[in-house]
Order: sequence, then C-alpha cells, then structure tokens
Amino acid sequence: MGKKIRVAIVGASGYTGGELFRLLIRHPSVRVALATSEREAGKPVADSHPFLRGFVAIEFIKADPAAVARSADFAFLALPHGESFKMARLLLKAGLKVVDLSADFRLRDPRAYRRWYDATHGDPDLLHGAVYGLTEFRRKEVARARLVANPGCYPTAALLGLLPFLESGVVAPGSVIVDAKSGVSGAGRTPSAASHYPETTEAFGPYKVGSHRHTPEIAQEAAASLGRRVPVRFVPHLVPMSRGILAAVYFRTRRTADDEALRSVLVRRYGHEPFVRVLPPGRFPNTRDVRGTNLADVQVKVFEGGRDAVVMAAIDNLGKGAAGQAIQNMNVMMGFPETAGLDFPGAVP
Ligand SMILES: NC(=O)c1ccc[n+]([C@@H]2O[C@H](COP(=O)([O-])OP(=O)(O)OC[C@H]3O[C@@H](n4cnc5c(N)ncnc54)[C@H](OP(=O)(O)O)[C@@H]3O)[C@@H](O)[C@H]2O)c1
Repeated sequence: MGKKIRVAIVGASGYTGGELFRLLIRHPSVRVALATSEREAGKPVADSHPFLRGFVAIEFIKADPAAVARSADFAFLALPHGESFKMARLLLKAGLKVVDLSADFRLRDPRAYRRWYDATHGDPDLLHGAVYGLTEFRRKEVARARLVANPGCYPTAALLGLLPFLESGVVAPGSVIVDAKSGVSGAGRTPSAASHYPETTEAFGPYKVGSHRHTPEIAQEAAASLGRRVPVRFVPHLVPMSRGILAAVYFRTRRTADDEALRSVLVRRYGHEPFVRVLPPGRFPNTRDVRGTNLADVQVKVFEGGRDAVVMAAIDNLGKGAAGQAIQNMNVMMGFPETAGLDFPGAVP
C-alpha cells in the first residue's frame, strides 16, 4: 500500500464532519490529520463525537487556512455556505485539492447565488474551475478537478432519478415535479426552532415550498443535461427521522411507455455503477436500506395510461447526500479505487 495522504476536515464538529470521520477511519489511503471547530477548538474530537471515542485521538483546532495548508494534502470543507469561499482559494493556492460540501461552488451563476442565498459570492472567479460533483454524471471532470462542489442532498436524490430520463429524451417538456422528504439531520447539528425535537417529532409537513435553495441547483443540472431550461417544481418535506431522503420525481412521458421500458433506461445508465442500485421490478426504494451508506436505490413506475411516470430515489442525506459522495469524489480526484472506504451495506433496522 502506498503512503497515506493527509486529509483535513474543516467544520468537523457538525453532522457531515462526524460522518466524514466515521467513513475515513476505515479508508485505506488517507489519514485524518486535522479537524476544525471554532467552538470546540482545543478539545478532543471524541468529546464532541462520542461515537468516535477510541478511534480518533486528535483535538479540534480553529479553521486557519494556513494551518490547514501546512498539515494536509486534501481538504473537505464541511462549513456553512458563505464560509467555504473564504478559505478555498488559499487552500488551492497551497496545492491542496478540495471538496466543498456547502453550496458555495454549486451554482454556476453568482447572480443566482445572490438571489437564492441572499449574499454576494465572495470569490466568483473560482466558480469557473469548480466541478459539480454528482460523480456518476461528472466522473471525467471530477478526475481532473482541484475544486469539487459536492451536490446538495435533495439534488443528489432528485437528479439520480431524473437525469437518466432527461438524457434519453423520455421526459415531456415542462412536466417535472420533485416531491421529496428528508430526515432532520439535513438541517445540520446547530439547533434551531425548526429542528427542535417537539417541532419535528410526530409531525410531517412541507416547508419552503417553491423557495427551497436546492431548487436552482436541480434546475441547473437538469438544464445542463438537456441543453435547455427545465422548469422544476420542488416540494421538500421534513419527516421525523434522523437520516434519509426519499425523492419522488414525477414527469410526463413524450410517448406511451411501460414499466419495463423505463426501468431499462435506469439499468442501462446505472448497470455498472457501484453505488446506484436499480431495484428489481415491483420493489421500491426505502431510506432504511441505504442508511449509513453511500448507496442510492432507484425505481421507476408508469401510471395507468402510459403517459405519466414517477422515478424514486432513496439516499442517506449524510452519505450519498454529503460525506459519502464527498469521499467518492476524493477517490476519483486522487485516483484511488472509487469504492475505497465506502464499500459496505447499511445498518438495518
Ligand atoms: N446535513 C446534511 O445532511 C447536509 C447534506 C449535504 C450538504 N450539507 C452541507 O454541508 C455543510 C455542513 O453541514 P452540517 O450539516 O455538517 O452542518 P453543521 O452540523 O451545522 O456543522 C457545521 C460545521 O461548521 C463549523 N462552522 C460554523 N460556522 C463556522 C465559521 N464561521 N467558521 C468556521 N467553521 C464554522 C461548525 O463548527 P463549530 O460550530 O463547532 O464552531 C461545524 O463544525 C453545510 O454547508 C450544509 O449545507 C449538509
């Protein structure tokens, strides 16, 4: 085995930071050399993430780009949006490769960032070189990239379902509706009124209908696939569970189709993909089956009449929706086997 690369997790006290740790501990080609937290600096990582006790011996330090650049070859930025663009340039200049888990480098157009994130992008020039890291659709670009924008959790699930049908010309224009449900860890570890236990338990409802920040991201990547604008109607929901996203993407077909014909589109697209499982006919995705993994389970169903269909995708928002996909992208960027550190089934029940 070659020498291990040194990895930094910037924003390591949060949920995606913890998940990066959990997955990287078993990665054969990396060592986590540095982890940052502003609030926990100077304290052992295992105090903040007790599940890592006995596996991680380092302490958090503050997120100083110079210190990160000195101690690491590769950085995961697991920071809130608006923070990553302050660090990325310095790290890239120092020769590190970077996967950013925030939204800072996902939208190609800085005006869209301003509109949806209500802030001016602090380093728009970096957007040109950033690759949107939905690995299954951008593998070649990811392999050459030094900065990868890891996709959002809802967009990962929605696009893994939708893109094969856009690519193959099955979808009637203007017909896409994304209905998706997420577990509460999608909101991050910092408590808020909306993620407070009494607000979320035994409760199920939509939020940010028509205004969720993942809407332009889904539309951007759908348009990139089709070569023209794809209007996206997106309704996110919060469900009382910690992990998991289930996306149901409805669309009208251009021509009459049946289950077998549309399922074969998924099989052709994903038959050789290590992390996307096209379920057998009659089986439907469930978040339980992908919990804690980098897997995505997909299935498609045509409604009576043969003109309306729904493609469904289940992922773990912290896995394929964040840390898992970030590591998959690192593997591709570094020339490691793509499945390194990620090749295991979930924990059920
Ligand atoms: N949760 C998900 O399912 C998910 C999925 C996909 C993408 N993402 C994205 O990934 C990023 C991280 O998400 P998360 O859920 O892990 O969030 P989180 O649980 O809230 O953690 C955020 C991390 O960033 C650090 N941080 C906060 N403000 C900072 C600042 N000004 N300077 C330096 N560090 C700062 C925090 O450290 P301290 O507070 O300890 O100082 C913490 O380690 C976000 O951009 C999120 O949108 C999340």
